[in-house]
Amino acid sequence: MKILVTGGTGFIGSAVVRLAVARGHAVVNLDALTYAACEANVASVAESPLYAFEHADIRDRAALDRILAAHAPDAVMHLAAESHVDRSIDGPGAFIETNVTGTYTLLEAARSYWTRAGRPDAFRVHHVSTDEVFGSLGATGAFAETTPYEPRSPYSASKAASDHLVRAWHETYGLPVVLSNCSNNYGPFHFPEKLVPVVILNALAGRPIPVYGAGENVRDWLYVEDHADALLLVLERGRTGRSYNIGGENEARNIDLVRTICAILDDRRPGGAPHDRLITLVEDRPGHDLRYAIDPSRIRAELGWRPSVTLREGLERTVQWFLDNEPWWRALQSREGVGRRLGTTA
Ligand SMILES: NC(=O)c1ccc[n+]([C@@H]2O[C@H](COP(=O)([O-])OP(=O)(O)OC[C@H]3O[C@@H](n4cnc5c(N)ncnc54)[C@H](O)[C@@H]3O)[C@@H](O)[C@H]2O)c1
Repeated sequence: MKILVTGGTGFIGSAVVRLAVARGHAVVNLDALTYAACEANVASVAESPLYAFEHADIRDRAALDRILAAHAPDAVMHLAAESHVDRSIDGPGAFIETNVTGTYTLLEAARSYWTRAGRPDAFRVHHVSTDEVFGSLGATGAFAETTPYEPRSPYSASKAASDHLVRAWHETYGLPVVLSNCSNNYGPFHFPEKLVPVVILNALAGRPIPVYGAGENVRDWLYVEDHADALLLVLERGRTGRSYNIGGENEARNIDLVRTICAILDDRRPGGAPHDRLITLVEDRPGHDLRYAIDPSRIRAELGWRPSVTLREGLERTVQWFLDNEPWWRALQSREGVGRRLGTTA
């Protein structure tokens, strides 16, 4: 299959690109190369005859039309987005532009491409979204695909809007789409402004490890390579017009996640132990959702998918990857905003 992946130079997109090429798919990576992109993420496939790169913005309709016509993909996997909640609090405009207008522009380009090709049933647009569209849970319960949307941050509101557009293009124009909403990802190539890499890198540097509020927020952690595997499965076998929730079956409070990372580092970098002495509670994120949890019944029952690693195993691999890839993360630490507290509304 030939897949056009948007946002394939980012964290999750690059995991999809690497896995798709490894499985013999041809991949066209369309990416605007924003601050969150890192070309080293796809260096391992850059020379493959199965890989092509297009530097373009999903808001640029002419570029999308040209790229779709030139490469004639069998499917589109849409991951390009502004993705950091804290940045959405400081500057929501870019999130509306890329996540809403960009998704609309991509849908229109895909619709026109699909119509010109004779509306083939086999064509697919797979829209990748987040569990944050469902809002915040209390101590119990889990998000199913039927849970009403209740986004609470500019980021999640923009992703919710994009999900609605994708469904509308299916219902109104018959565009063959499939959607997925996943929980928090972590793993190799995770951009150093997100929680897991912040903890690892601050611990290694002997700097305070910031934990928002009391660290009570619960997330369901999904190893990025498991997620990429699930995404390719949803693309190939998911039912048209349907959405699939993808979770890691690994719920943890932030404070426990941070302590686990510290314990792994105590083992592998005993010179800095105990790393948990660096944990510092800081002012909470405004509107910080308390808990997300995924009910994975649909993807398990319909597609037979389950995550392959526990949180502990995934974190062991992630910590080791960061220890082994210092030049990768050092190069990103000078990017605008990295290492600075964002999203406080102060
Ligand atoms: N990271 C998570 O835990 C998580 C969880 C759930 C859902 N998601 C969703 O998965 C997708 C990928 O997330 P990620 O963490 O890999 O994001 P990321 O921020 O690491 O990467 C986003 C990529 O999109 C590109 N991009 C941004 N704006 C663009 C534009 N206008 N045109 C073309 N390319 C553009 C960037 O250059 C970057 O390469 C997003 O849609 C995100 O909402 C992420």
